[in-house]
Amino acid sequence: MTSPKRILVTSALPYANGPLHLGHIAGAYLPADIYVRYQRLKGRDVLYIGGSDEHGVPITVTADNEKITPQAVVDRYHAMNKRSFERLGISFDQYSRTSLPVHHRMAQEFFTALHDRNDLIVRTSEQFYSAKSGRFLPDRYVEGECPHCHYDRARGDQCDKCGKWLEPAELIRPKSKIDGTAPELRKTDHWYLPMGRFSEEWRRWFDSKSWKDNVRNYSLGWYKEGLGDRPITRDLHWGVPVPLPDAKGKVLYVWFDAPIGYISATREWAERTGDPDGWKRYWRDPETKLVHFIGKDNVVFHAILFPMMLMRVGGYVLPDAIPANEYLTIEGRKISTSQNYAIWVDDYLDAFPPDPLRYTIAANAPETKDTDFSWKQLQSRNNDELADILGNFLNRTFTFIHRYEGGQVPAAGVLDGRDRAMLEELKSAPAVLGDLFERYEVRAATKALMDLCRSANKYFNDQAPWSTRKSDPGKCATTLNVCVQIAAGLRTLMAPILPFSAEGLAAQLNLPGNPAWDAAGEPCVAAGHRLGEAKILFGKIEDSDIAPQIEKLNRMAAGTAPSASPPAAEKGPGRVTFEHFKTVDIRTAKVLSAERVPKSDKLLRLQLDLGGTGRQIVAGVAQSYTPEQITGKTILIVANLEPATIRGVESEGMLLAVKTGNGHVLVTTDGEAPPGVRAE
Ligand code: 2FM
Ligand code: ZN
Repeated sequence: MTSPKRILVTSALPYANGPLHLGHIAGAYLPADIYVRYQRLKGRDVLYIGGSDEHGVPITVTADNEKITPQAVVDRYHAMNKRSFERLGISFDQYSRTSLPVHHRMAQEFFTALHDRNDLIVRTSEQFYSAKSGRFLPDRYVEGECPHCHYDRARGDQCDKCGKWLEPAELIRPKSKIDGTAPELRKTDHWYLPMGRFSEEWRRWFDSKSWKDNVRNYSLGWYKEGLGDRPITRDLHWGVPVPLPDAKGKVLYVWFDAPIGYISATREWAERTGDPDGWKRYWRDPETKLVHFIGKDNVVFHAILFPMMLMRVGGYVLPDAIPANEYLTIEGRKISTSQNYAIWVDDYLDAFPPDPLRYTIAANAPETKDTDFSWKQLQSRNNDELADILGNFLNRTFTFIHRYEGGQVPAAGVLDGRDRAMLEELKSAPAVLGDLFERYEVRAATKALMDLCRSANKYFNDQAPWSTRKSDPGKCATTLNVCVQIAAGLRTLMAPILPFSAEGLAAQLNLPGNPAWDAAGEPCVAAGHRLGEAKILFGKIEDSDIAPQIEKLNRMAAGTAPSASPPAAEKGPGRVTFEHFKTVDIRTAKVLSAERVPKSDKLLRLQLDLGGTGRQIVAGVAQSYTPEQITGKTILIVANLEPATIRGVESEGMLLAVKTGNGHVLVTTDGEAPPGVRAE
């Protein structure tokens, strides 16, 4: 495979009209992020673009319902979704928004370019108009029966059930969604893109590329039905104004402006990085490989409408690949935001670290058919694979070296057949996984990664260093050396899928710096190298952790759950007065001893010194700290918390820790402080 000069990757711009759910992640974001992270490790020039789609009728419908402005709606969800992506490690180079002036200008330039070359036509059509509200009712403002499949909630522009594009007048028994009245049809002028006129030009380009089956099939299906003339303007007050003097009250159709958002986001990136013309390298140089990651419902827009716009305006690169994904169902049911059935990304991240979700979705990505996510599956992927195979291999390697080798990597001696076979497997891994990533086969790559971990774990078992330590110390040293080389390789190989854990692993290996993909198969850790502290990378997920989540989904399915998580800003605890704050007694405490609470993966029982008085607390940090690691530390606790009994153990206070992608990090003091001193 010849490698392209540069790669421009986009993920569909989500509407800033609600929170993100796991279906979004599986469709357009996680596969793209994995691909981009891999390309960065390969050392390629890759740029990853995303942002909020802030126009369109769904947003104005939300604003009308909540009696706030559309700007307030998009401000809320843009901030929220940007943050959710960061928490999940979706590593956009630029996360933009289509309400920015740079985007409005860009979208208007596109419209003007098409208009000036006579590629648009004006047509008078009949659109719904509400006499009661005194306004036109485009698209989703009206629902009625589909003339094709008779679905009773088809919209004015399209039927969600059979996917057919509709003219408003075709809808049977239409009803306004804002005032419930039967709307009348009124004449109005709009600009249309005569797609039929350009369809052969499009077809020649389309046939010159190889596409995923779903992209080919959907696109040719539309093409064969006849592409026709598509209106690209709407009677609305929210959107990019049509840049013509006789177009008052009209804006560009959201599907016309949104994909241009990829270009304006790249422009924003270029300006931010001090190279205002830099965007042109990505969009105008034919040596760029453009890849659009999307869900299957977006195929027609990315494979037909947008390329056609780019072709007609001219001078732009066209997509090289569109790895469109099928849908993710949840516990066997279709995700539906309108029916409030989904797992929200923030709700997941409030309860669990990001990597187990990334891994579970990657291992079961809906690449060629719909796939199902269940909490049990998350639990077993995490416990049986991440913890018991990958985590176990790493942990036994590191704890062994800390215990018997003083934390230093022993030198390898003569390699036996098993050592050589293991190192060979490691050596071929970058190419094996790399080929799969290049082909957007995240699922197979995830399996190949875990197969390598399986081999490593088996290798450790077969070489039995705990027994050769006494019988054949040279062999034991070789085994441990090989294990560290594999761990060092895994730090790179797992990074696209498990970026947070890869960072944690790099710290345990004491290998900072940027690893390179192609070197990941070669031994790189010198004998004598000192390892960092050993920690458990993947904690177990207990039945009791997923039970409330399953219960929540059951309530959603029964229609008795509250709807989507409220915006992040409203979720915080709110303000407290200083008087109120002073009632919380936060103190330093020294950990005198620690032990695990029996039958719990998460809890430690700590004995503390509070400056002369003793105190026992139970803390849920066992997945991040061993008893040995926490003993001797000076921590901060809330000393006047109501006592509680946790798993049968008395706890008088709570330690302060922050939850990160890799587990808990203790809040400590910056410098020496005696125990028992109150924070102020
Ligand atoms: O389906 C959606 O969520 C759209 N907002 C995707 C837009 S993709 C691109 F064209 F911006
Ligand atoms: Zn239909």
